[in-house]
Amino acid sequence: MLVIGAGGAGMRAAIEAAAAGAQVAVVCKSLLGKAHTVMAEGGIAAALGNVDPDDNWQVHFQDTMRGGQLINNWRMAELHARESPERVYELETYGAIFDRTPDGRILQRAFGAHTYRRLCHVGDRTGLEMIRSLQDRIVQLGIEVHMEVTLTRLLKDGDRVIGAFGYNRVDGGFVAFKAKAVIIATGGWGRIYKVTSNSWEGTGDGVGMGFDAGAEVLDPEMVQFHPTGMVWPPGVRGILVTEAVRGEGGYLTNSEGKRFMLEYDPKKKELSSRDVVARSIYKEVQAGRGTEHGGANLDVRHLGADKIKKKLPSMYEQFLKLADVDITKDPMEVAPTIHYAMGGLRVEAETGATTLVGLYAAGEAAAGLHGANRLGGNSLSDLLVFGRRAGAAAGAYARDVGQGKIDERQIDQEQKILLLALSASGTENPYLLQQQLQQAMQDGAGLAREEKSLKACLDQILELRQRSARVHVPGSRKYNPGWHTARDLRFMLTVAEAIVRAAIERRESRGAHWRLDYLEKDPALGRVNFIAYNEGSQVKLKTRPVPEMPPELAKLFADAASTPPPSPPPAAKPPQPQQVRT
Ligand code: FUM
Repeated sequence: MLVIGAGGAGMRAAIEAAAAGAQVAVVCKSLLGKAHTVMAEGGIAAALGNVDPDDNWQVHFQDTMRGGQLINNWRMAELHARESPERVYELETYGAIFDRTPDGRILQRAFGAHTYRRLCHVGDRTGLEMIRSLQDRIVQLGIEVHMEVTLTRLLKDGDRVIGAFGYNRVDGGFVAFKAKAVIIATGGWGRIYKVTSNSWEGTGDGVGMGFDAGAEVLDPEMVQFHPTGMVWPPGVRGILVTEAVRGEGGYLTNSEGKRFMLEYDPKKKELSSRDVVARSIYKEVQAGRGTEHGGANLDVRHLGADKIKKKLPSMYEQFLKLADVDITKDPMEVAPTIHYAMGGLRVEAETGATTLVGLYAAGEAAAGLHGANRLGGNSLSDLLVFGRRAGAAAGAYARDVGQGKIDERQIDQEQKILLLALSASGTENPYLLQQQLQQAMQDGAGLAREEKSLKACLDQILELRQRSARVHVPGSRKYNPGWHTARDLRFMLTVAEAIVRAAIERRESRGAHWRLDYLEKDPALGRVNFIAYNEGSQVKLKTRPVPEMPPELAKLFADAASTPPPSPPPAAKPPQPQQVRT
Protein backbone atom coordinates (compact mmCIF):
# COMPACT_ATOMS: atom_id res chain seq x y z
CA MET A 1 0.00 0.00 0.00
CA LEU A 2 1.20 3.50 -0.78
CA VAL A 3 0.78 6.47 1.55
CA ILE A 4 1.61 9.81 -0.06
CA GLY A 5 2.52 12.34 2.63
CA ALA A 6 4.18 11.92 6.01
CA GLY A 7 2.42 14.46 8.21
CA GLY A 8 0.14 13.38 11.03
CA ALA A 9 -2.52 11.81 8.79
CA GLY A 10 -0.11 9.93 6.53
CA MET A 11 1.90 8.52 9.40
CA ARG A 12 -1.18 7.52 11.40
CA ALA A 13 -2.65 5.84 8.31
CA ALA A 14 0.59 3.96 7.65
CA ILE A 15 0.79 2.76 11.26
CA GLU A 16 -2.75 1.40 11.13
CA ALA A 17 -2.31 -0.34 7.80
CA ALA A 18 1.04 -1.85 8.80
CA ALA A 19 -0.36 -3.04 12.12
CA ALA A 20 -3.08 -4.83 10.16
CA GLY A 21 -0.46 -6.64 8.10
CA ALA A 22 -0.27 -4.53 4.95
CA GLN A 23 3.08 -3.89 3.32
CA VAL A 24 3.27 -0.10 3.40
CA ALA A 25 5.49 2.47 1.73
CA VAL A 26 5.31 6.12 2.79
CA VAL A 27 6.48 8.76 0.34
CA CYS A 28 7.17 12.34 1.35
CA LYS A 29 8.21 15.39 -0.60
CA SER A 30 10.38 16.63 2.21
CA LEU A 31 12.25 14.95 5.07
CA LEU A 32 10.43 12.72 7.53
CA GLY A 33 9.28 14.89 10.42
CA LYS A 34 9.04 18.08 8.38
CA ALA A 35 5.29 18.51 8.04
CA HIS A 36 2.71 21.29 8.33
CA THR A 37 1.32 19.30 11.29
CA VAL A 38 3.93 21.05 13.44
CA MET A 39 2.16 24.33 12.65
CA ALA A 40 -0.78 23.24 14.80
CA GLU A 41 1.07 24.41 17.83
CA GLY A 42 -1.54 25.09 20.47
CA GLY A 43 -3.06 21.67 20.95
CA ILE A 44 -5.22 18.70 19.98
CA ALA A 45 -8.95 19.16 20.49
CA ALA A 46 -10.49 16.19 22.29
CA ALA A 47 -13.30 16.19 24.85
CA LEU A 48 -11.44 14.48 27.68
CA GLY A 49 -13.10 16.68 30.28
CA ASN A 50 -9.95 16.80 32.40
CA VAL A 51 -10.19 20.50 33.16
CA ASP A 52 -13.88 21.13 32.47
CA PRO A 53 -15.70 17.96 33.50
CA ASP A 54 -18.90 18.98 31.69
CA ASP A 55 -17.21 18.55 28.31
CA ASN A 56 -18.26 15.57 26.20
CA TRP A 57 -18.35 14.45 22.56
CA GLN A 58 -21.77 15.98 21.95
CA VAL A 59 -20.56 19.48 22.86
CA HIS A 60 -17.43 19.02 20.77
CA PHE A 61 -19.62 17.86 17.88
CA GLN A 62 -21.86 20.92 18.21
CA ASP A 63 -18.91 23.32 18.39
CA THR A 64 -17.38 21.78 15.27
CA MET A 65 -20.62 21.93 13.29
CA ARG A 66 -21.41 25.49 14.39
CA GLY A 67 -17.85 26.56 13.58
CA GLY A 68 -18.26 25.01 10.13
CA GLN A 69 -21.59 26.84 9.70
CA LEU A 70 -23.40 23.56 9.20
CA ILE A 71 -22.08 22.68 5.79
CA ASN A 72 -19.81 20.05 7.41
CA ASN A 73 -20.28 16.34 6.86
CA TRP A 74 -22.11 15.64 10.15
CA ARG A 75 -21.00 12.02 10.25
CA MET A 76 -17.33 13.02 10.06
CA ALA A 77 -17.91 15.55 12.83
CA GLU A 78 -19.61 12.90 14.95
CA LEU A 79 -16.86 10.31 14.46
CA HIS A 80 -14.23 12.96 15.12
CA ALA A 81 -15.81 14.13 18.37
CA ARG A 82 -16.44 10.60 19.61
CA GLU A 83 -13.03 9.16 18.74
CA SER A 84 -10.61 12.00 19.47
CA PRO A 85 -10.15 11.19 23.18
CA GLU A 86 -9.13 7.61 22.42
CA ARG A 87 -6.67 8.78 19.75
CA VAL A 88 -5.05 11.20 22.20
CA TYR A 89 -4.55 8.49 24.82
CA GLU A 90 -3.20 6.23 22.11
CA LEU A 91 -0.69 8.91 21.13
CA GLU A 92 0.60 8.78 24.70
CA THR A 93 1.32 5.09 24.19
CA TYR A 94 3.47 6.11 21.20
CA GLY A 95 5.48 8.33 23.53
CA ALA A 96 3.85 11.77 23.42
CA ILE A 97 4.30 13.67 26.66
CA PHE A 98 1.57 16.23 27.31
CA ASP A 99 1.50 19.02 29.87
CA ARG A 100 -0.26 17.78 33.01
CA THR A 101 -2.85 18.98 35.51
CA PRO A 102 -1.67 19.13 39.15
CA ASP A 103 -3.17 15.66 39.69
CA GLY A 104 -1.32 14.22 36.71
CA ARG A 105 -3.92 14.15 33.93
CA ILE A 106 -3.49 15.63 30.45
CA LEU A 107 -3.84 19.40 30.74
CA GLN A 108 -6.32 21.17 28.43
CA ARG A 109 -6.46 24.83 27.43
CA ALA A 110 -9.05 27.17 25.94
CA PHE A 111 -9.14 27.79 22.17
CA GLY A 112 -11.37 29.78 19.84
CA ALA A 113 -15.04 28.72 19.68
CA HIS A 114 -14.55 25.61 21.81
CA THR A 115 -17.11 25.76 24.62
CA TYR A 116 -14.76 24.16 27.11
CA ARG A 117 -11.04 24.03 27.74
CA ARG A 118 -10.39 21.16 25.38
CA LEU A 119 -6.94 21.47 23.81
CA CYS A 120 -4.48 18.82 25.03
CA HIS A 121 -1.10 20.42 24.58
CA VAL A 122 2.63 20.39 24.95
CA GLY A 123 3.40 24.07 25.60
CA ASP A 124 3.13 25.62 22.15
CA ARG A 125 4.79 22.70 20.38
CA THR A 126 1.95 20.17 20.24
CA GLY A 127 2.14 19.40 16.53
CA LEU A 128 5.85 18.83 16.84
CA GLU A 129 5.34 16.39 19.70
CA MET A 130 2.71 14.57 17.66
CA ILE A 131 5.02 14.24 14.68
CA ARG A 132 7.88 13.12 16.89
CA SER A 133 5.75 10.37 18.48
CA LEU A 134 4.30 9.13 15.20
CA GLN A 135 7.72 9.18 13.57
CA ASP A 136 9.15 7.04 16.40
CA ARG A 137 6.32 4.58 15.85
CA ILE A 138 6.95 4.46 12.09
CA VAL A 139 10.61 3.71 12.68
CA GLN A 140 9.76 1.13 15.37
CA LEU A 141 7.41 -0.70 12.98
CA GLY A 142 10.04 -0.68 10.24
CA ILE A 143 7.76 1.04 7.75
CA GLU A 144 9.48 1.87 4.46
CA VAL A 145 9.87 5.64 3.97
CA HIS A 146 10.93 7.35 0.73
CA MET A 147 11.99 10.91 1.45
CA GLU A 148 12.39 13.80 -0.98
CA VAL A 149 10.21 12.17 -3.59
CA THR A 150 7.47 14.12 -5.35
CA LEU A 151 4.67 12.09 -6.89
CA THR A 152 2.86 13.83 -9.68
CA ARG A 153 0.46 11.35 -11.22
CA LEU A 154 -1.80 8.62 -9.99
CA LEU A 155 -1.64 5.49 -12.12
CA LYS A 156 -4.88 3.79 -13.03
CA ASP A 157 -5.96 0.43 -14.32
CA GLY A 158 -9.32 1.26 -15.86
CA ASP A 159 -11.16 3.19 -13.14
CA ARG A 160 -9.04 1.85 -10.31
CA VAL A 161 -6.05 3.67 -8.80
CA ILE A 162 -3.13 1.25 -8.67
CA GLY A 163 -0.09 3.35 -7.93
CA ALA A 164 1.66 6.64 -8.54
CA PHE A 165 4.51 8.09 -10.56
CA GLY A 166 6.91 10.96 -9.97
CA TYR A 167 10.54 11.82 -9.38
CA ASN A 168 13.25 11.88 -6.79
CA ARG A 169 13.94 15.48 -5.83
CA VAL A 170 17.65 14.92 -5.29
CA ASP A 171 18.79 13.42 -8.57
CA GLY A 172 15.66 13.86 -10.67
CA GLY A 173 15.33 10.13 -11.31
CA PHE A 174 11.84 8.94 -12.18
CA VAL A 175 10.04 6.60 -9.77
CA ALA A 176 6.89 4.50 -10.03
CA PHE A 177 5.05 2.78 -7.19
CA LYS A 178 2.64 -0.04 -7.80
CA ALA A 179 0.11 -0.41 -4.97
CA LYS A 180 -3.19 -2.09 -4.32
CA ALA A 181 -4.43 1.03 -2.55
CA VAL A 182 -3.20 4.62 -2.34
CA ILE A 183 -3.80 7.08 0.49
CA ILE A 184 -3.36 10.77 -0.17
CA ALA A 185 -2.26 12.64 2.94
CA THR A 186 -0.33 15.49 1.36
CA GLY A 187 -1.86 18.32 3.38
CA GLY A 188 -3.08 21.62 2.02
CA TRP A 189 -2.35 24.31 -0.49
CA GLY A 190 -1.41 27.42 1.47
CA ARG A 191 1.45 28.25 -0.89
CA ILE A 192 -1.05 29.27 -3.53
CA TYR A 193 -1.28 32.51 -1.55
CA LYS A 194 1.39 35.09 -0.87
CA VAL A 195 1.01 35.39 2.90
CA THR A 196 0.81 31.98 4.50
CA SER A 197 1.90 29.93 7.48
CA ASN A 198 2.56 26.99 5.13
CA SER A 199 6.07 26.07 4.08
CA TRP A 200 7.15 25.26 0.54
CA GLU A 201 5.60 21.78 0.48
CA GLY A 202 2.00 23.05 0.63
CA THR A 203 1.27 23.29 -3.07
CA GLY A 204 -1.84 21.10 -3.26
CA ASP A 205 -0.12 18.19 -5.06
CA GLY A 206 -2.26 15.44 -3.58
CA VAL A 207 -5.54 17.16 -4.29
CA GLY A 208 -4.28 18.16 -7.75
CA MET A 209 -3.28 14.57 -8.53
CA GLY A 210 -6.61 13.26 -7.27
CA PHE A 211 -8.46 15.84 -9.35
CA ASP A 212 -6.47 14.97 -12.48
CA ALA A 213 -7.31 11.31 -11.95
CA GLY A 214 -11.04 12.06 -11.64
CA ALA A 215 -11.69 12.44 -7.90
CA GLU A 216 -14.03 15.15 -6.66
CA VAL A 217 -12.85 18.21 -4.74
CA LEU A 218 -15.26 19.43 -2.07
CA ASP A 219 -15.65 23.01 -0.73
CA PRO A 220 -12.53 24.43 -2.42
CA GLU A 221 -13.68 28.01 -1.73
CA MET A 222 -13.28 27.54 2.02
CA VAL A 223 -9.76 28.73 2.80
CA GLN A 224 -8.86 29.56 6.38
CA PHE A 225 -7.07 32.71 7.42
CA HIS A 226 -5.52 32.16 10.83
CA PRO A 227 -6.03 35.51 12.56
CA THR A 228 -2.50 35.79 13.84
CA GLY A 229 0.57 35.53 11.66
CA MET A 230 3.73 37.58 12.04
CA VAL A 231 3.86 40.79 10.01
CA TRP A 232 7.29 42.20 10.55
CA PRO A 233 10.04 42.07 9.32
CA PRO A 234 8.90 41.29 5.74
CA GLY A 235 10.90 38.06 5.51
CA VAL A 236 8.82 36.41 8.25
CA ARG A 237 5.42 37.69 7.20
CA GLY A 238 2.80 34.96 7.59
CA ILE A 239 4.66 32.76 10.07
CA LEU A 240 2.16 31.40 12.59
CA VAL A 241 1.57 33.00 15.97
CA THR A 242 -0.27 30.24 17.74
CA GLU A 243 -3.84 30.64 18.97
CA ALA A 244 -2.49 29.34 22.27
CA VAL A 245 -1.32 32.91 22.87
CA ARG A 246 -4.97 33.95 23.08
CA GLY A 247 -5.89 30.67 24.76
CA GLU A 248 -3.52 31.54 27.59
CA GLY A 249 -5.10 35.01 27.96
CA GLY A 250 -3.37 37.18 25.34
CA TYR A 251 -5.54 39.96 23.93
CA LEU A 252 -5.67 42.07 20.79
CA THR A 253 -5.52 45.85 20.64
CA ASN A 254 -5.56 48.37 17.81
CA SER A 255 -3.28 51.35 17.29
CA GLU A 256 -5.44 53.35 19.71
CA GLY A 257 -4.83 50.75 22.41
CA LYS A 258 -8.44 49.59 22.28
CA ARG A 259 -9.29 45.94 22.87
CA PHE A 260 -11.50 45.71 19.80
CA MET A 261 -12.69 42.10 20.17
CA LEU A 262 -14.85 43.29 23.08
CA GLU A 263 -16.97 44.97 20.42
CA TYR A 264 -16.85 42.37 17.64
CA ASP A 265 -17.69 39.43 19.89
CA PRO A 266 -18.36 40.56 23.48
CA LYS A 267 -18.94 37.01 24.66
CA LYS A 268 -16.03 35.04 23.24
CA LYS A 269 -13.74 38.04 22.65
CA GLU A 270 -10.29 36.91 21.36
CA LEU A 271 -11.52 33.33 21.52
CA SER A 272 -14.19 33.81 18.90
CA SER A 273 -13.92 31.56 15.84
CA ARG A 274 -10.98 32.20 13.51
CA ASP A 275 -13.06 33.67 10.70
CA VAL A 276 -14.53 36.26 13.09
CA VAL A 277 -11.19 37.25 14.67
CA ALA A 278 -9.43 37.43 11.28
CA ARG A 279 -12.19 39.66 9.89
CA SER A 280 -12.09 41.87 12.95
CA ILE A 281 -8.37 42.53 12.55
CA TYR A 282 -8.92 43.22 8.86
CA LYS A 283 -11.69 45.71 9.66
CA GLU A 284 -9.54 47.54 12.18
CA VAL A 285 -6.75 47.89 9.64
CA GLN A 286 -9.19 49.05 6.94
CA ALA A 287 -10.55 51.65 9.34
CA GLY A 288 -7.07 53.09 9.79
CA ARG A 289 -6.58 51.66 13.27
CA GLY A 290 -3.95 49.11 12.30
CA THR A 291 -0.43 48.90 13.64
CA GLU A 292 2.64 50.29 11.94
CA HIS A 293 2.90 47.38 9.49
CA GLY A 294 -0.79 46.76 8.93
CA GLY A 295 -1.90 44.47 11.75
CA ALA A 296 -2.96 44.43 15.40
CA ASN A 297 -1.08 44.15 18.67
CA LEU A 298 -1.25 40.87 20.53
CA ASP A 299 -0.34 41.39 24.15
CA VAL A 300 0.68 38.83 26.76
CA ARG A 301 2.75 41.04 29.04
CA HIS A 302 0.14 40.83 31.82
CA LEU A 303 0.75 37.06 32.05
CA GLY A 304 4.24 37.64 33.42
CA ALA A 305 7.56 36.47 32.04
CA ASP A 306 7.57 33.10 33.84
CA LYS A 307 4.22 31.99 32.46
CA ILE A 308 5.04 33.26 28.98
CA LYS A 309 8.29 31.31 28.87
CA LYS A 310 6.67 28.18 30.29
CA LYS A 311 3.46 28.07 28.23
CA LEU A 312 4.60 29.84 25.07
CA PRO A 313 8.30 29.03 24.75
CA SER A 314 8.31 28.87 20.95
CA MET A 315 6.56 32.21 20.59
CA TYR A 316 9.03 33.80 23.00
CA GLU A 317 11.95 32.45 20.99
CA GLN A 318 10.34 33.10 17.58
CA PHE A 319 9.75 36.81 18.24
CA LEU A 320 13.11 37.31 19.92
CA LYS A 321 15.08 35.64 17.14
CA LEU A 322 13.07 36.66 14.07
CA ALA A 323 11.71 40.08 15.01
CA ASP A 324 13.96 41.23 17.82
CA VAL A 325 10.88 41.61 20.05
CA ASP A 326 10.84 40.39 23.65
CA ILE A 327 7.17 39.46 24.12
CA THR A 328 7.48 39.67 27.88
CA LYS A 329 8.12 43.40 27.39
CA ASP A 330 6.44 44.38 24.09
CA PRO A 331 3.32 43.27 22.22
CA MET A 332 3.51 41.10 19.12
CA GLU A 333 2.42 42.62 15.83
CA VAL A 334 0.06 40.20 14.04
CA ALA A 335 -2.23 39.96 11.01
CA PRO A 336 -4.23 37.19 9.30
CA THR A 337 -2.28 34.54 7.39
CA ILE A 338 -3.47 31.69 5.17
CA HIS A 339 -3.24 28.60 7.33
CA TYR A 340 -5.53 25.80 6.26
CA ALA A 341 -7.74 24.47 3.49
CA MET A 342 -11.14 23.28 4.67
CA GLY A 343 -11.66 22.02 1.12
CA GLY A 344 -10.06 18.92 -0.34
CA LEU A 345 -10.87 15.53 -1.78
CA ARG A 346 -14.39 14.35 -1.10
CA VAL A 347 -14.31 11.26 1.08
CA GLU A 348 -16.64 8.81 2.73
CA ALA A 349 -16.81 9.51 6.48
CA GLU A 350 -16.15 6.01 7.78
CA THR A 351 -13.33 5.00 5.45
CA GLY A 352 -11.73 8.03 3.83
CA ALA A 353 -12.52 6.46 0.43
CA THR A 354 -12.57 9.09 -2.30
CA THR A 355 -14.86 8.91 -5.30
CA LEU A 356 -12.19 6.81 -7.10
CA VAL A 357 -11.77 3.08 -6.47
CA GLY A 358 -8.53 2.33 -4.62
CA LEU A 359 -7.91 5.95 -3.63
CA TYR A 360 -8.28 7.18 -0.05
CA ALA A 361 -7.53 10.52 1.56
CA ALA A 362 -7.07 11.82 5.08
CA GLY A 363 -6.09 14.98 6.93
CA GLU A 364 -6.04 18.37 5.26
CA ALA A 365 -6.07 16.81 1.80
CA ALA A 366 -9.54 15.42 2.57
CA ALA A 367 -12.61 17.59 3.14
CA GLY A 368 -15.91 17.51 4.95
CA LEU A 369 -15.19 17.60 8.66
CA HIS A 370 -14.64 21.33 9.05
CA GLY A 371 -17.26 22.81 6.72
CA ALA A 372 -16.88 26.55 6.23
CA ASN A 373 -14.43 27.13 9.07
CA ARG A 374 -12.21 24.83 11.11
CA LEU A 375 -11.84 25.27 14.85
CA GLY A 376 -8.26 25.43 16.06
CA GLY A 377 -6.98 22.13 17.39
CA ASN A 378 -9.50 20.11 15.38
CA SER A 379 -6.90 19.47 12.70
CA LEU A 380 -4.63 17.42 14.94
CA SER A 381 -7.49 15.23 16.13
CA ASP A 382 -8.73 15.03 12.52
CA LEU A 383 -5.34 13.64 11.43
CA LEU A 384 -5.41 10.93 14.07
CA VAL A 385 -9.06 9.92 13.76
CA PHE A 386 -9.26 9.87 9.98
CA GLY A 387 -5.66 8.86 9.35
CA ARG A 388 -6.38 5.72 11.37
CA ARG A 389 -9.69 5.11 9.60
CA ALA A 390 -8.20 5.55 6.12
CA GLY A 391 -5.29 3.23 6.99
CA ALA A 392 -7.65 0.54 8.26
CA ALA A 393 -10.04 0.80 5.31
CA ALA A 394 -7.34 0.94 2.63
CA GLY A 395 -5.56 -1.99 4.29
CA ALA A 396 -8.77 -4.05 4.31
CA TYR A 397 -9.48 -3.17 0.67
CA ALA A 398 -5.92 -4.09 -0.34
CA ARG A 399 -6.28 -7.51 1.28
CA ASP A 400 -9.24 -8.30 -0.97
CA VAL A 401 -7.98 -7.19 -4.38
CA GLY A 402 -5.29 -8.31 -6.77
CA GLN A 403 -2.49 -6.16 -8.18
CA GLY A 404 -3.52 -3.88 -11.00
CA LYS A 405 -1.69 -3.62 -14.26
CA ILE A 406 0.48 -0.58 -14.94
CA ASP A 407 -0.18 1.14 -18.22
CA GLU A 408 3.20 2.33 -19.55
CA ARG A 409 1.49 4.98 -21.68
CA GLN A 410 0.46 6.85 -18.54
CA ILE A 411 4.07 6.88 -17.39
CA ASP A 412 5.31 8.05 -20.80
CA GLN A 413 2.75 10.83 -20.83
CA GLU A 414 3.73 12.06 -17.36
CA GLN A 415 7.45 11.91 -18.21
CA LYS A 416 6.78 14.13 -21.21
CA ILE A 417 4.91 16.65 -19.04
CA LEU A 418 7.74 16.66 -16.53
CA LEU A 419 10.47 17.03 -19.14
CA LEU A 420 8.71 19.77 -21.05
CA ALA A 421 10.06 22.48 -18.74
CA LEU A 422 13.63 21.39 -19.48
CA SER A 423 13.25 21.65 -23.24
CA ALA A 424 14.73 24.73 -24.85
CA SER A 425 11.52 26.01 -26.41
CA GLY A 426 9.86 27.61 -23.34
CA THR A 427 10.20 31.26 -22.36
CA GLU A 428 8.38 31.60 -19.05
CA ASN A 429 10.02 31.54 -15.63
CA PRO A 430 8.15 29.22 -13.18
CA TYR A 431 9.10 31.27 -10.12
CA LEU A 432 7.70 34.40 -11.68
CA LEU A 433 4.44 32.67 -12.59
CA GLN A 434 4.18 31.23 -9.10
CA GLN A 435 4.68 34.69 -7.59
CA GLN A 436 2.09 36.20 -9.89
CA LEU A 437 -0.39 33.48 -8.93
CA GLN A 438 0.24 34.05 -5.22
CA GLN A 439 -0.29 37.78 -5.61
CA ALA A 440 -3.44 37.29 -7.70
CA MET A 441 -4.94 34.93 -5.09
CA GLN A 442 -4.01 37.20 -2.22
CA ASP A 443 -5.61 40.21 -3.91
CA GLY A 444 -8.59 38.58 -5.58
CA ALA A 445 -9.58 35.56 -3.49
CA GLY A 446 -8.33 36.55 -0.05
CA LEU A 447 -10.08 37.23 3.21
CA ALA A 448 -12.57 39.74 1.73
CA ARG A 449 -13.93 38.76 -1.68
CA GLU A 450 -16.38 40.08 -4.20
CA GLU A 451 -17.51 39.16 -7.69
CA LYS A 452 -15.28 41.70 -9.40
CA SER A 453 -12.07 40.72 -7.60
CA LEU A 454 -12.81 37.02 -8.01
CA LYS A 455 -13.49 37.31 -11.73
CA ALA A 456 -10.32 39.34 -12.25
CA CYS A 457 -8.44 36.67 -10.33
CA LEU A 458 -9.95 33.91 -12.47
CA ASP A 459 -8.84 35.72 -15.63
CA GLN A 460 -5.31 35.94 -14.27
CA ILE A 461 -5.30 32.23 -13.38
CA LEU A 462 -6.45 31.29 -16.88
CA GLU A 463 -3.77 33.46 -18.42
CA LEU A 464 -1.13 31.99 -16.10
CA ARG A 465 -2.30 28.52 -17.03
CA GLN A 466 -1.61 29.25 -20.69
CA ARG A 467 1.76 30.72 -19.90
CA SER A 468 2.64 27.74 -17.68
CA ALA A 469 2.64 25.54 -20.79
CA ARG A 470 5.63 27.57 -22.00
CA VAL A 471 7.70 27.34 -18.83
CA HIS A 472 11.43 26.85 -19.24
CA VAL A 473 14.05 26.00 -16.63
CA PRO A 474 17.76 25.83 -17.33
CA GLY A 475 19.91 22.95 -16.14
CA SER A 476 19.18 19.28 -15.74
CA ARG A 477 16.91 17.15 -13.55
CA LYS A 478 19.58 17.01 -10.85
CA TYR A 479 19.18 19.26 -7.79
CA ASN A 480 16.93 21.56 -9.75
CA PRO A 481 14.28 23.37 -7.67
CA GLY A 482 13.19 25.42 -10.69
CA TRP A 483 12.15 22.20 -12.37
CA HIS A 484 10.21 21.14 -9.25
CA THR A 485 8.44 24.51 -9.20
CA ALA A 486 7.35 24.07 -12.81
CA ARG A 487 5.38 20.94 -11.88
CA ASP A 488 4.07 22.31 -8.57
CA LEU A 489 2.73 25.26 -10.52
CA ARG A 490 0.36 23.06 -12.50
CA PHE A 491 -1.26 21.72 -9.33
CA MET A 492 -1.38 25.19 -7.82
CA LEU A 493 -3.15 26.56 -10.87
CA THR A 494 -5.71 23.76 -10.88
CA VAL A 495 -6.51 24.19 -7.21
CA ALA A 496 -6.56 28.00 -7.50
CA GLU A 497 -9.06 27.74 -10.34
CA ALA A 498 -11.27 25.43 -8.27
CA ILE A 499 -11.11 27.84 -5.28
CA VAL A 500 -12.03 30.86 -7.36
CA ARG A 501 -14.75 29.23 -9.44
CA ALA A 502 -16.48 27.97 -6.29
CA ALA A 503 -15.95 31.31 -4.52
CA ILE A 504 -17.68 33.10 -7.38
CA GLU A 505 -20.67 30.77 -7.22
CA ARG A 506 -21.08 30.88 -3.44
CA ARG A 507 -22.92 34.20 -3.46
CA GLU A 508 -23.20 34.56 0.29
CA SER A 509 -20.95 34.99 3.34
CA ARG A 510 -20.40 31.85 5.37
CA GLY A 511 -17.50 31.04 7.68
CA ALA A 512 -14.17 31.78 6.06
CA HIS A 513 -15.88 32.79 2.81
CA TRP A 514 -16.63 36.50 3.27
CA ARG A 515 -18.27 38.16 0.29
CA LEU A 516 -18.45 41.94 0.53
CA ASP A 517 -21.17 41.92 -2.11
CA TYR A 518 -23.24 39.24 -0.34
CA LEU A 519 -22.87 39.84 3.38
CA GLU A 520 -25.81 37.66 4.41
CA LYS A 521 -26.02 33.92 4.56
CA ASP A 522 -28.21 32.40 1.88
CA PRO A 523 -30.24 29.55 3.45
CA ALA A 524 -30.38 27.77 0.08
CA LEU A 525 -26.58 27.79 -0.22
CA GLY A 526 -26.38 26.52 3.37
CA ARG A 527 -27.85 23.30 2.04
CA VAL A 528 -25.18 22.66 -0.59
CA ASN A 529 -21.49 21.95 -0.94
CA PHE A 530 -19.64 22.98 -4.09
CA ILE A 531 -17.70 20.32 -5.89
CA ALA A 532 -14.97 20.84 -8.45
CA TYR A 533 -14.38 18.02 -10.90
CA ASN A 534 -12.33 17.31 -13.95
CA GLU A 535 -14.05 17.18 -17.32
CA GLY A 536 -11.69 16.96 -20.27
CA SER A 537 -8.92 18.66 -18.24
CA GLN A 538 -11.24 21.58 -17.43
CA VAL A 539 -12.24 22.58 -13.91
CA LYS A 540 -16.01 22.18 -13.71
CA LEU A 541 -18.30 22.89 -10.81
CA LYS A 542 -21.45 21.29 -9.46
CA THR A 543 -23.34 21.29 -6.17
CA ARG A 544 -24.25 18.45 -3.90
CA PRO A 545 -26.70 18.52 -1.00
CA VAL A 546 -25.05 18.80 2.42
CA PRO A 547 -25.54 15.37 4.02
CA GLU A 548 -28.65 15.49 6.17
CA MET A 549 -28.24 15.02 9.91
CA PRO A 550 -30.40 12.48 11.70
CA PRO A 551 -33.13 14.17 13.78
CA GLU A 552 -31.50 13.43 17.15
CA LEU A 553 -28.43 15.42 16.10
CA ALA A 554 -30.28 18.05 14.04
CA LYS A 555 -32.28 19.17 17.04
CA LEU A 556 -29.06 20.41 18.68
CA PHE A 557 -28.91 23.17 16.07
CA ALA A 558 -32.44 24.52 16.14
CA ASP A 559 -31.16 28.05 16.82
CA ALA A 560 -28.43 28.04 14.13
CA ALA A 561 -30.48 30.10 11.67
CA SER A 562 -30.27 33.04 14.08
CA THR A 563 -26.45 33.30 13.91
CA PRO A 564 -25.81 36.94 12.89
CA PRO A 565 -24.21 37.53 9.49
CA PRO A 566 -20.81 39.25 9.36
CA SER A 567 -20.98 43.03 9.19
CA PRO A 568 -19.43 45.11 6.38
CA PRO A 569 -15.98 46.63 6.86
CA PRO A 570 -15.91 50.23 8.08
CA ALA A 571 -15.11 52.93 5.53
CA ALA A 572 -11.38 53.19 4.95
CA LYS A 573 -9.51 56.13 6.45
CA PRO A 574 -6.77 57.78 4.42
CA PRO A 575 -3.49 55.85 4.75
CA GLN A 576 -1.28 56.98 7.61
CA PRO A 577 2.30 58.06 7.01
CA GLN A 578 4.68 55.10 7.04
CA GLN A 579 6.82 54.93 10.12
CA VAL A 580 10.17 53.24 10.25
CA ARG A 581 11.06 51.07 13.20
CA THR A 582 14.56 51.76 14.48
O1 FUM B 1 -2.72 28.35 16.41
C1 FUM B 1 -2.41 27.17 16.39
O2 FUM B 1 -1.71 26.66 17.25
C2 FUM B 1 -2.90 26.33 15.31
C3 FUM B 1 -3.65 25.29 15.57
C4 FUM B 1 -4.44 24.66 14.51
O3 FUM B 1 -4.40 25.15 13.37
O4 FUM B 1 -5.14 23.70 14.77
